[in-house]
Parts: sequence; C-alpha cells; structure tokens
Amino acid sequence: MLELVGINTFYGAIQALRDVSMKVDRGEIITLIGANGAGKTTTLMSICGVVPPRSGDILFEGESLKGVSPDKIVSRGVSQAPEGRLIFPDLTVMENLDMGAYLRRDKQGVQEDFDYVFELFPILHQRRRQPGGTLSGGEQQMLAISRALMARPRLLLLDEPSLGLAPLIIRQIFSIIEKINKENTTTIFLVEQNANQALKIAHRGYVMENGSISLSGSSSELLANEDVKKAYLGM
Ligand SMILES: Nc1ncnc2c1ncn2[C@@H]1O[C@H](COP(=O)(O)OP(=O)(O)OP(=O)(O)O)[C@@H](O)[C@H]1O
Ligand SMILES: [Mg+2]
Repeated sequence: MLELVGINTFYGAIQALRDVSMKVDRGEIITLIGANGAGKTTTLMSICGVVPPRSGDILFEGESLKGVSPDKIVSRGVSQAPEGRLIFPDLTVMENLDMGAYLRRDKQGVQEDFDYVFELFPILHQRRRQPGGTLSGGEQQMLAISRALMARPRLLLLDEPSLGLAPLIIRQIFSIIEKINKENTTTIFLVEQNANQALKIAHRGYVMENGSISLSGSSSELLANEDVKKAYLGM
C-alpha cells in the first residue's frame, strides 16, 4: 500500500532522514519506534507532503507522491493525527471534526463518520459543543484521532498518540486503534516512543536511529530482540 524508497529529507542544510526505505501492506498496523529526534515525525511529514523528501520516492497504492500537495494526499486517502494533537482549541469538538472532513463532498458519508467516531469515543459526543481547548489531554488525543478519521482514510498516520497520557487512557486508546484497524480495515502507521505498547498491537515494526532504519521485523521478533529490549523496553 505504501512504499518509501530510499528517501532523504532535509530541513535546510540539516539532513533528518537518510536513505529510509519502508513498506506497509494493506490492512496492517505497523509501528515506527525510536528515541527523541530520531526522525519519526519527519518520516510522517514526508509521507504527508508537508516536508517532501529531497530524493528517493514515496509510492502510495503504486503511485508516486512526488510533487503532490498535502491536501491532494489527504484526498488520495492518507490522513494524520499529528504529534502534540494540534486540535483547534477555540473550535468546538463538532467544528474540529468538520475540519477533518473539509475536502469531502459526500454529506451522507460524513454524517456516517460522525456517528462512527462518536461510537468509538462516546465522551466526544458528550463534549461535542465544548471548545477543543477545554478537553483533557486524553480527550484531545481522541479528538485528534477522530478528526483524522473524518477524512475516511485508507491509511491512518498516528504520531505518538500515547504522549503524556496516563496508563489507563493509553490502554484505552491503543485498544481503539486496534479496533479501527480490525473493523474498518484501515491501515495504520503508528509512530511511538512507547515501544512496548506499540509492538503489542502492531503486526510489524521498524526501529529508527539518527534518521536511518536500524532494524525491522515482526513485532514478536522485535519484542524478543536484545538490543530493542535494552534501548526501548527498559529491560
Ligand atoms: N523544523 C525543523 N527545522 C530544523 N530541524 C528540525 C525540524 N524539525 C525537526 N528537526 C530535526 O530533525 C531531526 C528529527 O526530528 P523529528 O521531529 O523527526 O524526530 P522524532 O523522532 O519525531 O522525535 P520525538 O520523539 O522527539 O518527537 C531532529 O534532529 C530535529 O532536531
Ligand atoms: Mg516526533
């Protein structure tokens, strides 16, 4: 479904990604783990077209995303819940969700998706008229995921959904991510520092260090890997 072919991404003179190649199959949950500053967010920004790679290529459903604008990439079926949530604090929950659907013209489908996200996260229905900025951290994360779902993506990109949340909320959010993948056959690209939880729900994973992929394998292989255990699982 998605293929990164040797991409190199820069911020001005600083090279953030070096020859990164990855593959994501339809229907999978794949996770990208790594320390602060490894290049995880940059990988997602490259896929979304916000920080396009300087060389290499990204193929989505067999077609290159080279030169394709971020909103066209959303229309093709890729949407992201960004790191730090980045919801609109002054807009209500309903308005934030509407923003996620702004490129869609199928009113009926959008209505179905409102129902779908409120079924996934009933608390958002209770809070629907409240400004996003008044929600708790966990609720804002739920809103960010829901807003991304309102674009009805075939590929959903999640950037550290567990960041700063309590263990109970993290478990709840991860189980809903699994549910979205299973029930809706949405393919999920999950960036996480919480390697343990991420590898528990992912089918496969990649480890990133200093802008390069250092390791990849099935989740069970990575969970059993001595280097992964030491560096990312605190064992
Ligand atoms: N806008 C920017 N301008 C310059 N350098 C940047 C910019 N954004 C990121 N970088 C640099 O690129 C590298 C990769 O950053 P990135 O945000 O992708 O890491 P990350 O793996 O997502 O880290 P974290 O887990 O802390 O979110 C870092 O060295 C970072 O300082
Ligand atoms: Mg990041």
